[in-house]
This record gives sequence, C-alpha cells and structure tokens, in this order.
Amino acid sequence: MEAIKTEGLTKHFYEPLRRQTVIAVDNLDLVVEKGEIFGFLGPNGAGKTTTIKMLLGLIFPTSGRAWVLGNPIGDRKTRQKVSYMPENPYFYDYMTGEEVLYFYGGLFGLKGPSLKKKVDELLELVDLSEHRKKQLNGYSRGMLQRIGIAQTLLNDPELLILDEPTSGLDPIAHREIRELLIRLKEQGKTIFLCSHQLSDVEMVCDRVGIMNKGKLVTVGRLEDLLKVGEMEIAVEGLDPSQVEQVEKIASRIYKKDGDFLVYAEGEEKAQEVIDFVRNNGGRIISMVPLRRSLEELFVEIVKEEG
Ligand SMILES: Nc1ncnc2c1ncn2[C@@H]1O[C@H](COP(=O)(O)OP(=O)(O)O)[C@@H](O)[C@H]1O
Ligand SMILES: [Mg+2]
Repeated sequence: MEAIKTEGLTKHFYEPLRRQTVIAVDNLDLVVEKGEIFGFLGPNGAGKTTTIKMLLGLIFPTSGRAWVLGNPIGDRKTRQKVSYMPENPYFYDYMTGEEVLYFYGGLFGLKGPSLKKKVDELLELVDLSEHRKKQLNGYSRGMLQRIGIAQTLLNDPELLILDEPTSGLDPIAHREIRELLIRLKEQGKTIFLCSHQLSDVEMVCDRVGIMNKGKLVTVGRLEDLLKVGEMEIAVEGLDPSQVEQVEKIASRIYKKDGDFLVYAEGEEKAQEVIDFVRNNGGRIISMVPLRRSLEELFVEIVKEEG
C-alpha cells in the first residue's frame, strides 16, 4: 500500500474578479511510497499547496481521486495518522516551547506521565531541550520550525506533510531541519516535503516530483533525474596522434596540464575510450559520471514549459 496515491487529481479555482478559472492542479497522477522522503518541488504557484490541501481533505478536488495511507482522502481514521505543517505555522508567541507541546499533546488526548514523556522525547529529537522554558517570541525562525515539526509529531504520525519547512531559514537552520528529516525517515516515517528550495531536497529526498503550472512534469529517483549520461575520463600518457584518435570517439576533449579530459556520451563510448587508452599505453586517472544539479534540471524544465 502506498502512502499517497492520486489519479487525475485536479483543482480549478474560479477567480470572480478576473472572471477566469485557474487550473491550480491539473490531472495529477502521483505515487509516494511508504518510508520514503518525497520531494514535491516547483516554483511558486505551481500547485503544491493546493495538492496538499486536497490530500488533507481541507479542500475538495474538482475531479480525480486520491488515497492517503490506503484510504480515500477526507477519511477520518487517516487523519490521526497524518500530520501537516503548513507553510507559515502560527504560534502563540507568549508560550514556551514545552507549553506548546503540552497544549497540543493535550488536544490529542495525551496526559500525565505519557504526555510528559512524549514532550521530553520530542524536545530532545528536535534539539530544543535546552530552550524548553523559553517563550517562542525568543525563538529563531529555525527553532520555530523545529518546534513546529515536534508539534506535528505529537500524534506519532505515519505520514508527515511539510509545506516549505525551510523557507526563510539560514544555512545552519537548514541543515538542522535536514538532519531532523533524516532521523524521522530512520524511524520509518514517510515524509512528503514540499519545497521550492532545491538544495535541501537534493540532499534528503529519495525521489522528487517537479510541478509546474499545475502539472507534474517529472518524477523519479534523484540520481536518475540528475544523470546526464556523459562520462568525464581523465587520461594521461598519450601522444598527440593518439589523442586525435580519441577525439573521434569522444564528444569533447580538453587539455589540462599535460593530461586530457575526455567526455564520452553513453557507456559504450566511454568503454571505447577506455579500451583505446589502455591498448595504447595511456593511463586512466579518473572516471566520473557527470551530473547536473537539481537546480539545473529545475531551470531546464521550467524554461521548456515556457
Ligand atoms: N483559494 C484560491 N483561490 C484562487 N486561486 C487560488 C487559490 N489557492 C491557490 N490558487 C492559485 O492556484 C495556483 C497554485 O497555487 P499553490 O497551490 O498555492 O501553489 P504553490 O504552493 O506551488 O506555490 C496559483 O495560481 C494560485 O494563485
Ligand atoms: Mg505553496
């Protein structure tokens, strides 16, 4: 059973002022497996938050269907196993970190020693034990996000849906959130991480889906999406006439301090280059499959779509 599954999920909004219909989410087919960190990416306005709101049953789809933890969206039993941190979580400033957790834990029906145990555990997990007695108006943005995540963990959810959890954070706070997400994954939780911040996603996600203008334009394992199929082979010990031969196999070749950087398109060509070098007394110094960054992929896709 998948953590999330959608079939043709679609949401139209009518904007009375502009007298037009916005297609916020357009025929979305998506599967998120249990136990994975899935990065749901896309520029602002791509339809990420709208998708989340439909999954949570906060708004109704115009058409299409979806299941969360095997149950149709909006199902009451599912809600207890799913947690959601909205884009701009609202906190009561005057409460301390631990008071917030006690308060919401109480709402979930926890009390007494089990509530205290849970609060202690979560403060430890998000690394805020030291600051538990501090009011939230004294928290940094990163600390607020972490207490927000702790709050979403009070009901011990199977699935966490986080909408832009790192927006507006400094690099250190980013890293703390990333580490926290990895810890949660290790505990077996499924994380649906919605973000336009690529660097985080690149480091923690097993798979990503990229949304643009309501459509899912790409989905897959990061390593597959980022592969470009070109191999960079550093070579030494060839004479100029041999280099000319290699040039015929390679897509590009650069001279670098007496060595050569040979670029080969695809595995076959790479193998040809390697064989040639070895058979002609040259040496292979290194071989690296070239990757593009997620940012490059993102820009490419968004550009292509116009
Ligand atoms: N309640 C609404 N009424 C009208 N249009 C909306 C509403 N919510 C979202 N939209 C529009 O739907 C599109 C997708 O928005 P959203 O899902 O918030 O994108 P993202 O989270 O990817 O930034 C945008 O064009 C947005 O303006
Ligand atoms: Mg959004």
